[in-house]
Amino acid sequence: MTGIHGRRGPFTDGDTVQLTDPKGRMHTITLHEGGTFHSHKGKVEHSDLLGRPEGSVVRSNTGTAYVALRPLLIDYTLSMKRGATIVYPKDAAQVLVEADIFPGARVVEAGAGSGAMSSWLLRAVGEQGMVHSYERRADFAEIARKNVERFYGGPHPAWRLTVGDLVEELDETDVDRVFLDMLAPWECLDAVAGALIPGGLLCCYVATTTQLSRVVEELREDDRFYEPRSWETMLRTWHVEGLAVRPDHRMIGHTGFLVVARRLADGVEAPERRRRPAKGAYGQDYEAARAAAGGTAAAPAPEAKPAAEAAQEPPQESPARDTAAE
Ligand SMILES: C[S@@+](CC[C@H](N)C(=O)[O-])C[C@H]1O[C@@H](n2cnc3c(N)ncnc32)[C@H](O)[C@@H]1O
Repeated sequence: MTGIHGRRGPFTDGDTVQLTDPKGRMHTITLHEGGTFHSHKGKVEHSDLLGRPEGSVVRSNTGTAYVALRPLLIDYTLSMKRGATIVYPKDAAQVLVEADIFPGARVVEAGAGSGAMSSWLLRAVGEQGMVHSYERRADFAEIARKNVERFYGGPHPAWRLTVGDLVEELDETDVDRVFLDMLAPWECLDAVAGALIPGGLLCCYVATTTQLSRVVEELREDDRFYEPRSWETMLRTWHVEGLAVRPDHRMIGHTGFLVVARRLADGVEAPERRRRPAKGAYGQDYEAARAAAGGTAAAPAPEAKPAAEAAQEPPQESPARDTAAE
């Protein structure tokens, strides 16, 4: 059930169905003959849903109305059982587009965590593609397997799941895309560089600024990757009701940062970056990976400002992506 099958037509035995009550509360059930859904609002017989079209409204024995729909993948990933924290849907959407995940692509992912990103990647590569997920915790791998298989109605033909550390276990070559969602993605750069095809793309998802800095600097340090790009997205939902049209009071303030970098061909030297780093960016106070920007070594320039001061400087480039040939 990797595509259209099981996603269209009347409800049948074995379908996963989401029941939404008048207050917007969602309940996910698996339909089967003779089954009953119970809540404090009464009970709904599965037989009242079997054979009916998606989008039907059923009532409990106490009169509560429920809208019955098959869950979208976005609903499913947010409500499924979790081991590790999942990639939030707004970020999964960014990964699929910015990492250019295409039908038939060969993708490596680590860690599989709860299987949320695995499910998105599988949908994007399709049955002709490949997603090989690595997860070093056996308990999380098991949760990921159950979540993915429940959504797709069984084993997905394009999915392989390996329990183990990516650095030790990665056995794929000719990989188009790699997605890393873990604490220390920089530890995997060597393994990933060996697996990616020239022009392939690495995408990392990290939660903190210290991780962001480290992975970007280590990518710059590594001659096999071209200049990385980093960003985050913020999503603000709106309340729209009559004259009350305004942003919602609450929003998800922070989820994570994304970094992408392309794999260069073996033996080439990346052209020197034209844009010089901000003064002081790699000054005396800078202690992480060596200065890589500008192709220069880490020696602080005499006029270098302390990092804290450099951080106050206006940004050197527009947040918009500059795709013009330089
Ligand atoms: C935040 S979770 C991933 C969540 C997943 N992307 C999802 O959407 O459900 C991070 C996972 O990476 C795993 N991990 C960390 N380093 C790893 C490595 N080197 N190889 C394999 N798995 C790793 C951890 O055990 C953890 O389960």
